[in-house]
Amino acid sequence: MIKCKSPREIDLIRQAGAMVGGALNLSATLAKPGVTTKSLDEAVFKYINEKGGQAAFKGYRGYPANICVSVNEEVVHGIPDKRVLKAGDIVSVDIGVCYKGYYADAAVTVPVAGIKPETQRLLDVTRESLRLAINKIKAGIKLSEISAAVQIFVEANGFSVVRDLVGHGIGSAMHEDPQIPNYVDKDVTRVEDNIILKEGMVLAIEPMVNQGTYEVETLANGWTVVTRDRKLSAHFEHTVLVKEGGSEIMTPVMNY
Ligand code: MF3
Ligand code: CO
Repeated sequence: MIKCKSPREIDLIRQAGAMVGGALNLSATLAKPGVTTKSLDEAVFKYINEKGGQAAFKGYRGYPANICVSVNEEVVHGIPDKRVLKAGDIVSVDIGVCYKGYYADAAVTVPVAGIKPETQRLLDVTRESLRLAINKIKAGIKLSEISAAVQIFVEANGFSVVRDLVGHGIGSAMHEDPQIPNYVDKDVTRVEDNIILKEGMVLAIEPMVNQGTYEVETLANGWTVVTRDRKLSAHFEHTVLVKEGGSEIMTPVMNY
């Protein structure tokens, strides 16, 4: 069941989203050579708590950290630790905030310093695929139009879309219906693909884009998802409100 949110609920999600956006800006500023992934986690924890929010990932299905930090071939759910970032790395930071019982969730992938042009292109294409998908969103479109927008742009640019992980509804829980794949299966139409978006729905759209194969696997720690061929992966995510004639990004991030 997809719940349409009341104005009060939307306001709380927007406030949670402002904290997510601020925490992502902070992370992007801090992600420099010599810094540990754990130090990003600690800085974000402090930032969110000072604003009156809670880091939503901590304890979610036993997740051990406040945020996810995924480096290079890590797709998502990298656990912050003593790993030191270095020039040439790309780092995906994924942050969820709960504020007065309402959730917002977003992610960016940033260069640590001096990345190759082809790596920059991966980041640009992934960010642009999210922007194109968001630009499609308004009351009355089919859910699968979001999925198709991401896939067509990503594949036209020679990259692949991760299939094992999806975007999601969000609101009074971090993961609500519907699931939002970033590709359309041309053989199987899911019931959800034909859902018509309505004003007040809030969706987390999150393309994960790989340089090589779309196949992924999970490391022995039970969390970190990596590309099967160990080539690079990028992830951008926004929490988006569906409106009549358009949408609103609830997790605004500077420069993204
Ligand atoms: N950010 C993820 C999502 O978009 C959720 C993180 S799962 C956690 O769905 F366990 F790490 F919290
Ligand atoms: Co999400």
